[in-house]
Amino acid sequence: MASPAAAASSHLHLLLIALLFLPFAAAAAPHRHRVPSRHLASLNASAPPTTFFEVDRPIRPPLGSVGPCSALLLSHSFGETYGRPPVTAAYAPPECLAAARARGASLALAVLEWTADCRGRQFDRIFGVWLSGAEILRSCTAEPRATGIVWSVSRDVTRYAALLAEPGEVAVYLGNLVDKTYTGVYHVNLTLHLYFRPAPPPLTQHADLIVPISRSLPLNDGQWFAVQNATDVQSKSLSIPSNTYRAVLEVFVSFHSSDEFWYTNPPNEYIEANNLSSVPGNGAFREVIVKVDDHVVGAVWPFTVIYTGGVNPLLWRPITGIGSFNLPTYDIDITPFLGKLLDGKEHDFGFAVTNALDVWYIDANLHLWLDHKSKKTVGSLIGYDAPALALNLDSGFSGLDGKFVTGASRHVSATGSVKSSYGEVTTTFYQRFSYVNSNVYTNNGTVQVVNQTIDAKSGVFVKDTSAVLLSEEVHKVFPLYVYTGTSDQVGDEYSLISLVKLGINEKSVLGGKLGFSYRSLRNAQSARGTMKVKKNLVVSGLGKTHQVYKYVGTDGCYFRDVSSKNYTIISDNSGDSCSKGSPSSGVKFSSNKNQPARKRLLKL
Ligand SMILES: *[C@@H]1O[C@H](CO)[C@@H](O)[C@H](O)[C@H]1NC(C)=O
Ligand SMILES: *[C@@H]1O[C@H](CO)[C@@H](O)[C@H](O)[C@H]1NC(C)=O
Ligand SMILES: *[C@@H]1O[C@H](CO)[C@@H](O)[C@H](O)[C@H]1NC(C)=O
Ligand SMILES: *[C@@H]1O[C@H](CO)[C@@H](O)[C@H](O)[C@H]1NC(C)=O
Ligand SMILES: *[C@@H]1O[C@H](CO)[C@@H](O)[C@H](O)[C@H]1NC(C)=O
Ligand SMILES: *[C@@H]1O[C@H](CO)[C@@H](O)[C@H](O)[C@H]1NC(C)=O
Ligand SMILES: *[C@@H]1O[C@H](CO)[C@@H](O)[C@H](O)[C@H]1NC(C)=O
Repeated sequence: MASPAAAASSHLHLLLIALLFLPFAAAAAPHRHRVPSRHLASLNASAPPTTFFEVDRPIRPPLGSVGPCSALLLSHSFGETYGRPPVTAAYAPPECLAAARARGASLALAVLEWTADCRGRQFDRIFGVWLSGAEILRSCTAEPRATGIVWSVSRDVTRYAALLAEPGEVAVYLGNLVDKTYTGVYHVNLTLHLYFRPAPPPLTQHADLIVPISRSLPLNDGQWFAVQNATDVQSKSLSIPSNTYRAVLEVFVSFHSSDEFWYTNPPNEYIEANNLSSVPGNGAFREVIVKVDDHVVGAVWPFTVIYTGGVNPLLWRPITGIGSFNLPTYDIDITPFLGKLLDGKEHDFGFAVTNALDVWYIDANLHLWLDHKSKKTVGSLIGYDAPALALNLDSGFSGLDGKFVTGASRHVSATGSVKSSYGEVTTTFYQRFSYVNSNVYTNNGTVQVVNQTIDAKSGVFVKDTSAVLLSEEVHKVFPLYVYTGTSDQVGDEYSLISLVKLGINEKSVLGGKLGFSYRSLRNAQSARGTMKVKKNLVVSGLGKTHQVYKYVGTDGCYFRDVSSKNYTIISDNSGDSCSKGSPSSGVKFSSNKNQPARKRLLKL
């Protein structure tokens, strides 16, 4: 993540998600890489554009639904947009939405589609889309090539039904800079697609009200909060309707600049002992803490999204990194705390990041369910347990070589009851996290190997005096392995080898009055690449990526096994059969015996 000089002079924390920012661990050689590269620029500019994509399962309209009815929300070319106000457009609910309601139909599915093209040379840029202050998409742009690229991102936004039904404002912040070198302008269309079912909405499915916990316009930035260090707490005070009976916080998170590769950061002792002024530190553990007043209500141990310029940009062309086009969000059920919040007064919703370095972009949407049959609900917090983070570091190094093993765990649980026209309902929400990160430097600090696993379990149990109404358990595991090594350094030229494996393994089981559902996802990428760098430009290189995506759920199945090499898809198999015979999951990576000796190392 380098920053264009123009940006660097303005605001350090606004450093864009640029390509890579890979200072050498070696004190003598602090390199910042800026790809787009020369060889990419020399391609035949009249060749057809390349389509970039993130592997995901298709969003399927529910059986029996009709649509889509589509509305263009915004169309814009993002050129000189860095540090400028977000681009906005008035939002009016599409007429088909009111018409559907009038005939007794209801929203079955809403999909937000971002389509974009770009040509030339440009960094990867983080961007956000907000509707009436509530974030509805966090994403990263694809890096263009001389011949042009196109890509699209679709996100299921049905859970924002309450917002979609009201007039408001769409805002997009995508901070881009264009000059003689970085020529890419992002041309974007943002479209909403709606599908309807011929029946009224199922009760309680989606929130009645969505309250943004974000910064209000006008701004010369995104509506996200920027958390810049370990003591920085960004917060917003607000009051909630007195007839709320359920509340869920949906948190958006992305990390940039000094913390873009937080999971590879060494401890500060190592940096100080080796006088590595350009290597970001604070160790390799990060978590987002969410507080309501003085209570830690939950945490986010984020998936390690690698943006389209990360590690080696050639890895992510055209298959982009998991989550990079559609960053995951994280739900924290705060219903147990309604007893504290239903007093009509303002309460403070705050975000902090343990060990943070500049910068984390965080905001949230508070989804609220309202009791239409009463003016006032009454809650009480029955049980609450949130012990401090357990964090330990096993550290040993000599000069630039060393091994650091970091372990962490956290547990939060809360139980509370709410009396409403639905009776007295008790909700328990818990989260249980564990984490281990091994960071090993060898060959005089020129090879770095990071192996990390985040394990996050959470659950919601809802019961009234006679029965269990809902029981949901979610288990997520995020494995990550990053090898980086440099070799053949002569002056300002060197070679970089990188190997990245990352994945999301997720299982959830939901049962209750409305039925039973099960979801299991195994999504794994294995990517390796080389590049030759000269004077901070990639002069040649090659990236190969293999991804296996396997989803099995009560709502259907999806499988895809796809490989790319040097911008080209070399194999692609997919299917949506739920049969047992589909190919096995998980990416296998056999280490290449021909890999050159690991001589020098670079640090992400
Ligand atoms: C290790 O790297 C440092 C910094 O680049 C250099 O000064 C030193 O000579 C290297 N040591 C060896 C044994 O190569
Ligand atoms: C550039 O690509 C176009 C279309 O692929 C082709 O017709 C043309 O001959 C190419 N030009 C050169 C100089 O390679
Ligand atoms: C945006 O929509 C316009 C009008 O339909 C179309 O000409 C243009 O190609 C679209 N651009 C993208 C990036 O989809
Ligand atoms: C942390 O960030 C906040 C917000 O930018 C700033 O006010 C504060 O001085 C910073 N603290 C340290 C220790 O750098
Ligand atoms: C540490 O680095 C700074 C700047 O990079 C340099 O001026 C200084 O001499 C170095 N100190 C040691 C002890 O290597
Ligand atoms: C990463 O570490 C885990 C154990 O913590 C191990 O099972 C796994 O094989 C390691 N991955 C790699 C690629 O070395
Ligand atoms: C990668 O593809 C380009 C054309 O798109 C070709 O010119 C180049 O030689 C290829 N590189 C390798 C290492 O295969």
